[in-house]
Amino acid sequence: MKKLIDLITEIVEQGFEDCGYERSLGKVTLSNRPDLCEYQCNGAMAGAKLYKKAPIMIAGDVVEKLSGQEVFEEVGAVNPGFINIKVSGSFVAEYLEQMNGAEKLGVSQEGQKETIIIDYGGPNVAKPLHVGHLRSAIIGESMKRLSRFLGHTVIGDVHLGDWGLQMGLIIEELKERKPELPYFDESYTGEYPKEAPFTIGELEEIYPAASAKAKQDAAFAGKAHDATYKLQNGDRGYMAVWNHILNVSVSDLKKNYEKLNVTFDIWKKESDAQPYIPAMVERLKEEGFAHESQGALVVDVKEEGDAKEVPPCILLKSDGATLYSTTDLATLVEREKLFSPDRILYVVDKRQSLHFTQVFRCARKTGIVKDGTKLDFLGFGTMNGKDGKPFKTRDGGIMRLEYLIQEISDAVYDKIMENKSMDEKEAKKTAQVIGLAALKYGDLSNQAAKDYVFDVERFISFEGDTGPYILYTIVRIKSIEAKYAALDKRYEGEAKILPAASESEKALQLMVGRVADALLAAFAEQAPHKICQYIYDLSNAFNRFYHETKIMAEENQERQAGYIRLLGLVRRVLETCIDILGFEAPDRM
Ligand code: ARG
Repeated sequence: MKKLIDLITEIVEQGFEDCGYERSLGKVTLSNRPDLCEYQCNGAMAGAKLYKKAPIMIAGDVVEKLSGQEVFEEVGAVNPGFINIKVSGSFVAEYLEQMNGAEKLGVSQEGQKETIIIDYGGPNVAKPLHVGHLRSAIIGESMKRLSRFLGHTVIGDVHLGDWGLQMGLIIEELKERKPELPYFDESYTGEYPKEAPFTIGELEEIYPAASAKAKQDAAFAGKAHDATYKLQNGDRGYMAVWNHILNVSVSDLKKNYEKLNVTFDIWKKESDAQPYIPAMVERLKEEGFAHESQGALVVDVKEEGDAKEVPPCILLKSDGATLYSTTDLATLVEREKLFSPDRILYVVDKRQSLHFTQVFRCARKTGIVKDGTKLDFLGFGTMNGKDGKPFKTRDGGIMRLEYLIQEISDAVYDKIMENKSMDEKEAKKTAQVIGLAALKYGDLSNQAAKDYVFDVERFISFEGDTGPYILYTIVRIKSIEAKYAALDKRYEGEAKILPAASESEKALQLMVGRVADALLAAFAEQAPHKICQYIYDLSNAFNRFYHETKIMAEENQERQAGYIRLLGLVRRVLETCIDILGFEAPDRM
């Protein structure tokens, strides 16, 4: 379906054309004086120069042409030359009826559908998830769902970090703790045990311990380096340990992501890209893209007009070791080969922005990605604690995702139990659902690049710009729908959304009609917070209507049935949007 605002624009453009003016002057925008009108067109101002005529005269001409058309309730020219518009109630109501009958609420995107890879999550095997990974998962998941909703083919890739020094550290530490394990016996030729020699709990303790040790003990650090090297060159025993680390980590990660309602289509890893490195490096050397600089092999990526110096992209260090950038380039080689994507979106901490500038430039320059492939970076800021520093748990330790979700759900649970509105069991389940919404909305409602403060009290509030407020609105609608369904006397004709009978109903209907604008803008600008903004506005519009309107006491049954139909549409719009954001509403709260 066309957007409501585009339909109005077309009519106003026709008005300009019919008066002999340039059609494109008729662009309509939302009114910035909602007290005066709903939409406005400022084209007469631009036309003044073109036609050497006072803008108010141009506006007057157009208004005369437009007056009397069914679409408008009011259309007027005001000084110095604005065209102010109120659309008719029937026009809006009919538009909503169409939305109601259409698939996906009539939201459609013009243009080619793309194959999009979204690189998000990005956890590192055997290292605990931290808040950055949490943000990546939440934001990436919403971009994935949004892109899919708009009809694109989307592949969400977790892109596990499984290839760095952390692996050598863990292996070396394990070797010191349990030297008797067969993995460390070079003469061992038998099969290795199927069972991992550690649990996830142990694994999580091993990494920080090893990492701390390496900082103090140069000999240990050196050994960890060697272990990494051995692993990367395919040592049989080390590969077997690495496989255990991977399996134990991945099943734990999957549990964590499940709790977050986050799912990946593929579980690719940094190590999967390694086989592509030799040929890639060889080609870049042969074709003259790569050159030596202080012993390292690099590709220059600075460009004219760079405000800050962009250092060369390093392919190989002087000792021949590969780096994060090498892996990311090789991953692009792999992605081109396997998926030939039109777009790749990276949802990563904004502090990695320079790294991606280098990688993107290098990939383009060297033809690792084909010409039209769009490479996008959605960089996000830090989640801080109330002290303004990156979030930590109460005891100051490493944040575990589970604790974070638990902290929020517990707070919601206490709140529900205060009201004594349901039994313990239902309260527990409901608290989980609301808690997740609170956490995700608390994150997504901020512009991604900004830092924000993790504030449980604020996030779980049932009022204000919060997840629970949106859920509360949905639950309220569900309860009215249920009451209506239980009525003895209901309208027997075919219910329709009727032209608004009040100002608050009109405002609500217009807001419902804006869902496509919100979703398309969120996609184009890679900005899920625009969806949050929209559902917050929509919830406010609904609640105002609800407080000013007697729905259950309405005597005109046709009108009452129309209200219920409108409510159903509002609920569907809200439910669709929160599903895109990656959370859901309970039945009661
Ligand atoms: N594992 C990385 C980290 O923890 C994030 C990976 C982001 N994706 C990528 N293709 N580099 O910082």
